[in-house]
Amino acid sequence: ANTQGSKYEYVFKVLLLGDSGVGKSNLVIRYQRDEFSPQSRNTIGVDFSTGSIEIEGKTVGAHFWDTSGQERFRSITSAFYRGAYGAFLVYDISKKETFDNVQERWLHELRYSTSQDIVITLIGNKSDLESTRQVGREEAKAFADQNGFSFMETSAKDAQNVRTAFESILTEIY
Ligand code: GTP
Ligand code: MG
Repeated sequence: ANTQGSKYEYVFKVLLLGDSGVGKSNLVIRYQRDEFSPQSRNTIGVDFSTGSIEIEGKTVGAHFWDTSGQERFRSITSAFYRGAYGAFLVYDISKKETFDNVQERWLHELRYSTSQDIVITLIGNKSDLESTRQVGREEAKAFADQNGFSFMETSAKDAQNVRTAFESILTEIY
């Protein structure tokens, strides 16, 4: 079963997509190192990192491809979509336009470059910003249900649901 020369029986490629500033890099940093960066830099192109998780007694490897949300890197980042087993479509609950762009932009890019059976989780990040919320939980959940996506609200800042989100998508892929 181990055809990739990896120490894992399975290695799953997972993408993070969404507008610049929604917190994709901080979700990865929170999951991998349990840290948060209040003044993180915009990702240049794509950041690659690896992780692993125990599922049903097997160690499953994960390759996370944290893409830039900036328009000027589009041609580079979309080249990395191929072969993905899963994707996080991330928006910021306090910025309505980032949710609109999940529907109008990111989902189309993903559908264009990946297979239909890719596992997708819609992530409403920055759940700590409840007082400036612009995207309702019900509205997002309805959109996710219509499309067959899982849905979760997370906060990379206070760590809410971050581990659950990563573990869920890997378990769902497996
Ligand atoms: P690009 O790499 O440009 O596509 O952006 P990104 O989606 O990777 O965003 P990044 O993780 O760099 O975070 C952008 C800003 O939002 C930073 O100032 C973070 O500190 C902040 N941020 C990220 N996650 C959260 C969160 O859960 N809550 C709050 N309040 N701020 C967050
Ligand atoms: Mg980033």
